Amino acid sequence: EKRYLKLSKIFDYFSEMEIDISWYKKNNFSQPANTNLQTLNTIIKNCKKCKLHKTRINTVFGEGSANAKVMIIGEAPGKDEDISGKPFVGRAGKLLTEILSSINLERNDIFITNTVKCRPPENRNPHDDEIKSCSGYLDEQIKLINPKVIVLLGKIAANRILNIDEPISNLRGKKYFIKENNIPIIVFYHPAYLLRSPLQKSKVWEDLKFMDNIITNHDC
Ligand code: URA
Ligand code: SF4
Repeated sequence: EKRYLKLSKIFDYFSEMEIDISWYKKNNFSQPANTNLQTLNTIIKNCKKCKLHKTRINTVFGEGSANAKVMIIGEAPGKDEDISGKPFVGRAGKLLTEILSSINLERNDIFITNTVKCRPPENRNPHDDEIKSCSGYLDEQIKLINPKVIVLLGKIAANRILNIDEPISNLRGKKYFIKENNIPIIVFYHPAYLLRSPLQKSKVWEDLKFMDNIITNHDC
């Protein structure tokens, strides 16, 4: 079912469709062209910008609605995600889906992705150079989806977006802004951490209420 196109062929198609991808060819994401999520997905599928491309089975672009109110950013694809090409489908993902449905958010109301789009071997943390190589894609996804709130799951995502290296317990329950946009950003415990520390699960409810408040009061 899967057929892969040569990158040069894809570039030809884009130019035929009059989609400007010179920003990609130049490896420069500071001024991305007006591309869309599908185009970006195709580019990521062919990406070899960092060494994670060598060991991946599938890239994990992310999934959900292009008009999602809530954009959730995790750490990196794990084994199940690498095999399926979908984010958060393993144990942590099931817990995340349960947490979201407790406030009536379906997986389709959100867009969910990770700081890197390829699985780090043995599920190690992604290295700084890998996060950096992949960061243009995440920035572009945020721009295209333009959610009402961004939820960072765990320390790796918090560190990547907020540039703050602190324990999650200090970061949660606060609203952050970065200079690139005026989207409120909040930090949650990573569901994988909640699986290991079930006592912390009660805190999730506070985090959800905090998030819900931001979505509801966003316009003021
Ligand atoms: N953990 C993550 O951070 N991301 C996934 O996609 C799955 C598990
Ligand atoms: Fe490209 Fe990101 Fe995958 Fe690295 S992790 S190969 S930068 S898509």
